[in-house]
Amino acid sequence: MINIDSLVAGLDIGSAKTTVCLGSVDAQGRVEIHNASMVKTRGMERGVITDLGEVAACIEEVIKKVEAKTQRSEQTNTLWPKKNFKINSVYATISGEHVLGNNTKGMLNLSNRPIEISRKDMRKAIESAKYLSSSIDREILHALAQEYVIDGYKRIKDPLGIYATRLGVNLHILTAELSFITNVVKAINRAGIDVEQIAYSGLATSLATITEQEKQAGVILLELGAGTVNILFFNEGSLQYTRVIPVGGQDITQQISSLLNIDFAQAEELKMQYRSRCGGDFDQASCEDKIIIKKDAANYESITRKELAEIIDKKLDTILAMIKKDIELAGILSRVNCGVVVCGGMSFMDGIIERLEKITKLPVSMGIMRGFVSSSSGMSNIFYATGIGLVMHALNERRNFNQGVFLTNSVFGRIFAKLKNIYEEYF
Ligand SMILES: Nc1ncnc2c1ncn2[C@@H]1O[C@H](COP(=O)(O)OP(=O)(O)OP(=O)(O)O)[C@@H](O)[C@H]1O
Ligand SMILES: [Mg+2]
Repeated sequence: MINIDSLVAGLDIGSAKTTVCLGSVDAQGRVEIHNASMVKTRGMERGVITDLGEVAACIEEVIKKVEAKTQRSEQTNTLWPKKNFKINSVYATISGEHVLGNNTKGMLNLSNRPIEISRKDMRKAIESAKYLSSSIDREILHALAQEYVIDGYKRIKDPLGIYATRLGVNLHILTAELSFITNVVKAINRAGIDVEQIAYSGLATSLATITEQEKQAGVILLELGAGTVNILFFNEGSLQYTRVIPVGGQDITQQISSLLNIDFAQAEELKMQYRSRCGGDFDQASCEDKIIIKKDAANYESITRKELAEIIDKKLDTILAMIKKDIELAGILSRVNCGVVVCGGMSFMDGIIERLEKITKLPVSMGIMRGFVSSSSGMSNIFYATGIGLVMHALNERRNFNQGVFLTNSVFGRIFAKLKNIYEEYF
């Protein structure tokens, strides 16, 4: 029987779609995804809320949708306890250009004579780095330890129990603007739901799409969304570089809309129909095929497939050039031994893999969902990657918390003081 109280809900409010995924840990200790739902987002642009009421309404809609789905499962699946299922709290994502990743160092002098390193020492070393990274208008989302340095020796992954006089830690710290976080929390609260924690969306996606081996060898995750591109670089098992660029599939649609003078919905339809990986067989023979465009109720015009493709490809190339520039500036290309993994809706644009291979000179592959089990259909849909990764993150945090292990991720000072107080009692 599924323990309803152990279920976690992961809510991803993207620029185009809002998803919620439900999961728990099964009897074998695996992450099990039970259900997921998706609705179109309203009131959000590039990770920033532009209409609080609209976002709250979207959240309410998607939560109701997944609750109804789950109640149907309750009726047909004997493993579900027979009680009306309700979601009261969620883990939620945040994204946008304001999310910044920085590598930093922490240091703790232990003693003049070597002493055994405790969890408390590890926490203090991390806290010293966090203290230096904090500012009045930004909140630390994640403080991810890359390696520990013990009396000058680097590359130590787990220093617990080792004797030393000094403990250093190298970290990747992800911060976000406090005002944006507060707005996301407010929108969720307005939908009648509590927020357990906020996590960076790109990090959540990586949990459901990148393997530990890839992280060890060096891999870039490129999440090409509607309003944002997330670039994450992992090496030696940990996150080394993060960047959010405020561009995405919406910009291509916007370009079609403004150049052809048609509304956004029609432009989106044209993009999906004629230039998406699933959009069919565009070849030389169909270059001159006519596409009819509706200007208004009475006026129609036509363009050729070639003309539409040129508009789309030009914008796509501009976006890819921005990505290329960022990756080059980051100076990470020589350390990428496992290529580039792409996901997000824009990764379904026709020819994008080949273009990315050309500009990065690295092998590029489509992301595959991994690291969880599910008996419900549709859960391996890549559009659920962020929501499912968030569930994985949440279950991981809960397990660490229950075992009294220091949470290196997502400790919210100002907003989640209650959780923090409970956690402090462990030490
Ligand atoms: N089959 C497809 N071919 C081409 N583009 C697609 C396809 N499916 C979706 N897209 C585009 O992908 C974008 C949506 O991607 P995604 O669902 O990853 O965005 P999001 O998570 O809502 O946004 P973000 O993460 O940027 O805030 C839209 O611009 C949409 O037009
Ligand atoms: Mg997204």
